[in-house]
Amino acid sequence: MESKNTQLKLHQRIELEIDGVGASGEGVGHLCGRAVFVPRALPGELVAARVVHLGSRKAVAEPQKILRPSSDRIVPVCSAFGRCGGCQLMHADYPAQIGLKRAILQDALRTIAKLEPVSVPVAPAPGPLGYRNRGQYPVARKKGKVVTGFYASRSHDVVAVSECHIHDPRVDRAVACVRAWAGHKRVPVYDERRHRGFLRHVVVRVAEGTGEVLVVLVGRGEQSLPVGDLVRRLQKKLPGIVGVLLNINPARTNVILGGSNRVLWGRGWVEESFLSLKLKLSVGSFFQVNTAQAKVLFGKVRRFIGRPAGAVVDAYCGVGVLASLLSKAGHETVGIDSFAPAVKDAEIIAADNRVQTAVFHCGRTEKLLPRLVSHGIKPKAVILDPPRKGCAPEVVDAAAESGAEKIAYISCHPGTLSRDLKRFFDLGYRLETIEGVDMFPQTFHLEVFAGLVRT
Ligand SMILES: C[S@@+](CC[C@H](N)C(=O)[O-])C[C@H]1O[C@@H](n2cnc3c(N)ncnc32)[C@H](O)[C@@H]1O
Repeated sequence: MESKNTQLKLHQRIELEIDGVGASGEGVGHLCGRAVFVPRALPGELVAARVVHLGSRKAVAEPQKILRPSSDRIVPVCSAFGRCGGCQLMHADYPAQIGLKRAILQDALRTIAKLEPVSVPVAPAPGPLGYRNRGQYPVARKKGKVVTGFYASRSHDVVAVSECHIHDPRVDRAVACVRAWAGHKRVPVYDERRHRGFLRHVVVRVAEGTGEVLVVLVGRGEQSLPVGDLVRRLQKKLPGIVGVLLNINPARTNVILGGSNRVLWGRGWVEESFLSLKLKLSVGSFFQVNTAQAKVLFGKVRRFIGRPAGAVVDAYCGVGVLASLLSKAGHETVGIDSFAPAVKDAEIIAADNRVQTAVFHCGRTEKLLPRLVSHGIKPKAVILDPPRKGCAPEVVDAAAESGAEKIAYISCHPGTLSRDLKRFFDLGYRLETIEGVDMFPQTFHLEVFAGLVRT
């Protein structure tokens, strides 16, 4: 075992006190002048671990044995925990997970946004399991059997898992039907190494409010399929099934969905009933994966924006749920999204819900927001809900330049949120509220709502 004065070496076995949490939910301890990151270790634990990566200031060690477990440690409900990589915190009980996520967020706010230490409330999810309304699984053939699961880390090998505890159970039920059907009907399965075969992924979308289910087979090309048998199997297990779709992805890529879809049976979308809206959701369009917590999050944004008085820009709007909700409440809204099918869905949703004061633009926020501002739009508020990489500087600058009284920033990455908050502070905004909403229990991810006001 390692003493304080010696150098840390690759593959070395160490004993480590865990005294903090890393940005990806790992336990962190300190040894020989380095921060050592240990996945699946909790603050307060003493662990035996083996160094698997060595940098000049950081190291990563794989845990071998928990020598002194934390009282927050529980037995993970999933047998694939630790191999799958999808859930990083399943070894901690749910209240402890919330504490870890709060610590990750507060650390980013302190070190990157340079905020005084703040205690951020985090709204826990009502259901820490079974919450994901959408699942996507790679398909492979192993020893003659069709399997679905996840890719082993840094490989193209599919590890068979038939149950994922964070998905709505209907997702697994649908995938089980596809597996049984593909095996029985000898549907050719995609071989990633040779780029041969057909069935690559199964994607399932569940509308929690209506119970509708859509199943998408992602194939390498066109293929004649015994669809009737699949539909019968699905109808038996899933009364809410409304459509089976073929998505064609001929590319040698790890991007799951290809560009074209063909309806094999039923229709190519699910209808969701969400707050006061009816939503038509197609396969590729973004919709928050945790429906219950999306309601909590959007409620916070709506309360922050307040009464109608001037336009609201909903940048990175997806299918425009917030824009349509705000329009229904009397606001004039302008949605922006770069994904054309999402913008099309947003327009359909607005029309279906008789929303008359929302317009949607397809394009990059980096280009469209500065253009709207230079054309004289003076919004009361700007909503920003970017992907994990956050907003480009020109987006933050344009939002500030618009003179908006309020900025509602929704983020799924504390680090990029903190960076962008700092920029807003420098441009004359202050933080009025910041709250976490746990959309992704069992993982280290946290959705955060930050409300900024012009000083
Ligand atoms: C986190 S989602 C937010 C969706 C929406 N606000 C919601 O809550 O349903 C991010 C969205 O940003 C879009 N997007 C990604 N990069 C973009 C960009 N540079 N400009 C505009 N939209 C972008 C994606 O298509 C996606 O719909």
